[in-house]
Amino acid sequence: MEEPQVRRRRPIHRTKEEHTGTRSRKWIPLIFIGFGLFCVIQALNLYLRILMETKNQQILQERDALKQKLQDIEYLTTEGWQYFEGSWYLGSYTERSWSESRKFCQEKGADLIIINSVQEQEFARMFHWNRWIGLSDLEHEGVWRWVDGSLVNTSFWHPGEPNNQGSEHCGTVYFDVRRDNWNDYSCTKKCYCICEK
Ligand code: BGC
Ligand code: CA
Repeated sequence: MEEPQVRRRRPIHRTKEEHTGTRSRKWIPLIFIGFGLFCVIQALNLYLRILMETKNQQILQERDALKQKLQDIEYLTTEGWQYFEGSWYLGSYTERSWSESRKFCQEKGADLIIINSVQEQEFARMFHWNRWIGLSDLEHEGVWRWVDGSLVNTSFWHPGEPNNQGSEHCGTVYFDVRRDNWNDYSCTKKCYCICEK
């Protein structure tokens, strides 16, 4: 009996074309990885550009706001406003009644001064002459209120004031050596004033 022939495996002997095919297939994952990396870098690039652009816009807006603030400050100081502890103050150059003075301040985006600290009182004292402040008892005699409706808690009445001499319902500060220099005065009298904003 004839011995069955063992089927020999064909020796791996690739043709040149087969070789090139395998080698080029080897590059496929690398091409994908490379393309993926490229996309990631591009996305990062775009993200950073947007981030920088946003930051840039923010800085420009802040710069413009500061410029505007500086212009406002320049304008206020040339108009005679003085800055003190968070507020702007203006001493008027014309004498008016209390309500006319209030209107004068309001037209400037302010109101008559409200004094609510010793420091502010010391500051208000530095303005010369008799000046209206935002204080009155026009609603109820003897109940002194500021122009924002609040009651007076720390007062700086001159000794003997308020005395309602004649009929006095509006408050003034007057230039005096003593710190306590408030006086009640007839609202229709003409005085300078101090505005605050
Ligand atoms: C009084 C004040 C008063 C003022 C009126 C002063 O002599 O001391 O209380 O408001 O006169 O002009
Ligand atoms: Ca008085």
